Amino acid sequence: DKGPYRHYMLKEIFEQPTVIADTLEGRIHDGRLLESCFGVGASALLDQVRQVHIVACGTSYHAGLVARYWLEELGVPASVEVASEYRYRDPVIAPGTLFVSISQSGETADTLAALRGAKARGCLGSLAICNVPESSLVRESGLVLMTRAGREIGVASTKAFTTQLVALRLLSIALGRRHALTLEREQLLVSELTALPAQVEAALALNKDIERLAEAFADKHHALFLGRGTQYAVAMEGALKLKEISYIHAEAYAAGELKHGPLALVDPTMPVLCVLPDNALQEKVVSNLQEVRARGGELFLFADAGLDVHFEGSGVHLLRVGPVSDSIAPVVFTVPLQLLAYHVAVLKGTDVDQPRNLAKSVTVE
Ligand code: M6R
Repeated sequence: DKGPYRHYMLKEIFEQPTVIADTLEGRIHDGRLLESCFGVGASALLDQVRQVHIVACGTSYHAGLVARYWLEELGVPASVEVASEYRYRDPVIAPGTLFVSISQSGETADTLAALRGAKARGCLGSLAICNVPESSLVRESGLVLMTRAGREIGVASTKAFTTQLVALRLLSIALGRRHALTLEREQLLVSELTALPAQVEAALALNKDIERLAEAFADKHHALFLGRGTQYAVAMEGALKLKEISYIHAEAYAAGELKHGPLALVDPTMPVLCVLPDNALQEKVVSNLQEVRARGGELFLFADAGLDVHFEGSGVHLLRVGPVSDSIAPVVFTVPLQLLAYHVAVLKGTDVDQPRNLAKSVTVE
């Protein structure tokens, strides 16, 4: 039932504050993570983890890319790869490797094959971050951390992604404890997670503004999405959403890569979308954007409300998000990009919930 919403995708976008709260429920207490959320015997296994291999496809892969920054920041070595490559490589699985799969459906053929391969090569253990309890991935993994997004019907994944990020934040706390994470920092991270549903709610309040912004986007054929750090992965996810449902060709780049090629594409007909949270990289991103403006590129900027950013001239669309703390910014900044893709698709009249050529669950290679 879509309730008051025109499409399942919009309904699912608006469910995010609730399902994020559900995904945290009973897993944090008194400012700390409860490790029992990973299942029986998890703590003893986590003690032995030396590094993490994260493997997934599509949107779930983008969640993994964000998690790599989170894990490394806490001293945990991590690699991330799409399952369709990982399964056919000869990955070296060093002692102490935890294989982490991320999947909404738990039935993605490549992700399952990668899990089976990693087990055959003797990984220390496997953890599935998954949304479907009775799925193959859950059955075949040693540890499980369920996202509690509820059934996701829209082919374009939205609430599954943000709840995956929440689950991965919990995993990074668990492993971080065994590396560089202090008790004080854990308490801060947990309190920021607790604030997340309200922050996502505030991002959803931008819906009307984004609907207007979509009008400036709907006639485009191409777009560049930029970000740095965790927001590079957010940009990738935003570009994928736009591609999937609006059929506009969108490419995500790490903002620092701009001058290594894609800047040649920038002219007044090329929209450049950028996510700009308030963190140590923001000045670098702003200088990348100045290069875009110098070439007349139309800028769609989603910037943290606490930042003092100004770009002269017409062709700049500035939307304020937050202010939001860096540890949860990838979740919050994802929301306006989901809404933008949605409204552009509606304006273009595509089949939002069932985009052409795509299936909700990719159970064959
Ligand atoms: O069920 P999974 O999370 O394993 O699915 C992976 C991808 O097929 C999926 O995320 C796909 O990219 C979505 N359509 C993205 O919106």
